[in-house]
Amino acid sequence: MESHCLKYVVTLFLTLSLSLAPFFVSARTSPCKFPAIFNFGDSNSDTGGLSAVFGQAGPPHGESFFHKPAGRYCDGRLVVDFIAQRLGLPYLSAYLDSVGSNFTHGANFATAGSTIRPQNTTLRQGGFSPISLDVQFNEFYDFHRRSQTTRNQGGVFKKLLPKAEYFSKALYTFDIGQNDLTSGYFSNMTTTQVKAYVPDVLNQFKNVVKYIYGQGGRYFWIHNTGPVGCLPYILDRLPVTASEVDKAGCATPFNEVAQFFNRGLKKVVVQLRKELPLAAITYVDVYSAKYSLISRPKKHGFEEPVRACCGHGGKYNYNRNIGCGGKIKVHGKEILVAKACKDPSVWVNWDGVHYTQAGNKGVFDQIVGGAFSDPPIPLNMACYRKK
Ligand SMILES: *[C@@H]1O[C@H](CO)[C@@H](O)[C@H](O)[C@H]1NC(C)=O
Ligand SMILES: *[C@@H]1O[C@H](CO)[C@@H](O)[C@H](O)[C@H]1NC(C)=O
Ligand SMILES: *[C@@H]1O[C@H](CO)[C@@H](O)[C@H](O)[C@H]1NC(C)=O
Repeated sequence: MESHCLKYVVTLFLTLSLSLAPFFVSARTSPCKFPAIFNFGDSNSDTGGLSAVFGQAGPPHGESFFHKPAGRYCDGRLVVDFIAQRLGLPYLSAYLDSVGSNFTHGANFATAGSTIRPQNTTLRQGGFSPISLDVQFNEFYDFHRRSQTTRNQGGVFKKLLPKAEYFSKALYTFDIGQNDLTSGYFSNMTTTQVKAYVPDVLNQFKNVVKYIYGQGGRYFWIHNTGPVGCLPYILDRLPVTASEVDKAGCATPFNEVAQFFNRGLKKVVVQLRKELPLAAITYVDVYSAKYSLISRPKKHGFEEPVRACCGHGGKYNYNRNIGCGGKIKVHGKEILVAKACKDPSVWVNWDGVHYTQAGNKGVFDQIVGGAFSDPPIPLNMACYRKK
C-alpha cells in the first residue's frame, strides 16, 4: 500500500496545483487492494458471533438471501456483507464461530448487543453482549498472533488463515456505539446522565483504534451511530411525548443523543489522524444515510419506514416479549405468531431493532461512493490519507 500512498501524494499535488478540491482522489488514482477486512461492532455487523455462543438466531432470519438463518439479525445481508462483496472478498466469518469458518480474507469480531464499554451485567441481566469492544480487541490480538503460528504449519491452515502481510493491508471496519447509548436509558438514566458518560465511551473507542494501529492496522472505516430514536424497540420501550416525535415518526431525544455521540466521534477521528501518522481513517455518516431512508422512504423505494416487518402487534409491530420468529403456546401447541411481512424489500426495518437487507442495501448504496464520508472518497479509495 506504500506505493498507493505515494501515488496519492502525487495526485494530491497535481490536484492542488490545479486548485481543485484538495482531498479529491483523481480518477487516475488506482483503487486500494484490500486483501482482508477485520470488523468490530454490534448486531449491525454481526455475521454469526452471538449466534455461535448464545444460540442461533432462528428463522425467519436469513430468509430473503441465505434462505435459512445465517447468524445475522436480518432477512439477508448486512452493510458489512455489501462492503465485502464490493471489495471482491468473501462474507466474513465470525471469529467466535468454530464450525465451517474461513478467515483467509478477514474475521468478524462483532456480536449482537456489544457495547464499547464493558458492561457490569450479564447478557441475561442487561441484554448486552459480554463481547464488548475491549474483548473484541483481545480476540483480534490473539487471532493476529496465533493465526500466523498455525498458518506456518502449512496444509489446510494456509487456506483458512490470512497471510501475515494482510494485517497491514486490511480494511478495519467499525460499527459500534448504539448499545452504549441505549444501555443507559434501559437502566433508567436521563439524557443528561447518558451524555455524561459519552466521553468515557469515546475515549475507550479511541484506545482500541490505537491498539489496532499498534498491531499494524493502517486503514480504518468508521461508521457513526444511527438514528436510534427511529427504531421500534426504542419507540416501544421508551415512549416520548407527541412533541418529541419528529415528522418521520422518530423520537428526537434519542436521535439527539446519537448525534451528540457522533459529534464526539468525529472529534476523536480528527485526534486519531494527528496521533497516528500512517493511518487513513474514513468517518462515515451512516446516521444521515439511515435517516434519509426513514424520512424519505418513497425516494429510496420503501413503503414502511418505521414499523417492523417481522414482529407481533402494537403500533410498531414490535413486542418486547415476542420477538421476530417468536412462538406462543396455545392448548399445548406452539404457534408462530411473530411472522415476517410479505415483502421485506419495501420495509426499512426488519425486527424492530435491525434493518432489512433492503434497508442495509439502501444504506450501503448511499455511503459506498463517499457522499457521506469524511474525507469524501469512495470505499475502494479508503487507503488514502487525507493529507
Ligand atoms: C462498571 O463498573 C465500574 C466500576 O464501578 C465503572 O467504572 C463503570 O463505568 C461501569 N460500567 C458501566 C458500563 O456502567
Ligand atoms: C477459504 O476461502 C478462500 C477464499 O475464498 C479459498 O481460496 C480457500 O480455498 C478456502 N479454504 C478452504 C479450506 O476451503
Ligand atoms: C427502571 O424503572 C422501571 C420502572 O420504574 C423498573 O421496573 C425497572 O426495574 C428499572 N430498571 C432498572 C435497571 O433500574
